[in-house]
Amino acid sequence: MRRAGLFVATSAAWGAGLVALSGRGEADPPKPPPRPTAVPGLHIVQRGRYGTDEPKTPFEAVTTYNNYYELGVSKSAPAQYASALKPRPWSVLIDGEVQKPQTVDVDTLMGWFGLEERVYRMRCVEAWSMVIPWVGFPLADLVRRVNPTSRAKFVEFTTLLDSEQLPAQNDDVLPWPYVEALRIDEATNELALMAVGIYGSSLPGQNGAPLRLVVPWKYGFKGAKSIVRIRFTESQPETTWNRVAPNEYGFYANVNPLVDHPRWSQATERRIGQTLRRETLPFNGYGKYVAALYSGMDLRRYF
Ligand code: MTE
Repeated sequence: MRRAGLFVATSAAWGAGLVALSGRGEADPPKPPPRPTAVPGLHIVQRGRYGTDEPKTPFEAVTTYNNYYELGVSKSAPAQYASALKPRPWSVLIDGEVQKPQTVDVDTLMGWFGLEERVYRMRCVEAWSMVIPWVGFPLADLVRRVNPTSRAKFVEFTTLLDSEQLPAQNDDVLPWPYVEALRIDEATNELALMAVGIYGSSLPGQNGAPLRLVVPWKYGFKGAKSIVRIRFTESQPETTWNRVAPNEYGFYANVNPLVDHPRWSQATERRIGQTLRRETLPFNGYGKYVAALYSGMDLRRYF
């Protein structure tokens, strides 16, 4: 079987749709999206926290080399098919172990917080990486605002289930909707960001419009796109890639050059747009902010 992507073909159970999927979109040249102009309402009040001086990955690459399986499994398909995704109107259900469950419009949600720009490295589990200027607000601020109960130990992120907007949900390459989750102390770490934009403009569909998670010390697959529900739970939620291939994709998914993927090394990575491979850093270089979250844990076991 030809592999459309490194992820694909990890699971026999979800393999049925892969042959058909792998033939689609792969050969089509990526259509560079028009660069959006500044969007009214996206007022950035703070810049530079936790930033890096590394060169940013060009906008064109960030928006045409994507993983968004609901829009197709090739890197170019998400940019090609993203126009079907309608990011407004959009509401987010916040429920589970919170004092006051609520449904909130995404613009109202954004208005609760000051937006900031953060330039983060993103390391995909497939061993490529980018440097992306996100616009968003700390997830910690959202968690504080909605007031979880003392039973809340995890935060689950459920993404859009709608095959009209996300046509590749008609294929069973993954169980839909795509779900991710964090432990609550990870979610309240200052680095965890709810992104609503890149490069100073609102998020393109292929990057997860209108709202996505960014956790820069973890592999990119933790960064759920197009979130419609944020649920606080007492027990660890089931997450998509972990469910499909638990031996390959752990719940924690912290970037770790010492723990290889069963089918490839995680010691090095290819920065998109550059030729030479570089060493992968523990926690993607963010250890000073996050390593304490895992003190005493065997990170080979909890990978
Ligand atoms: N979120 C959804 N809903 N569906 C996906 O297929 N792919 C993940 C993550 N979030 C994915 C997703 C993976 S594997 C990666 S590496 C990042 O999104 C890629 O984000 P980017 O395309 O904005 O670079």
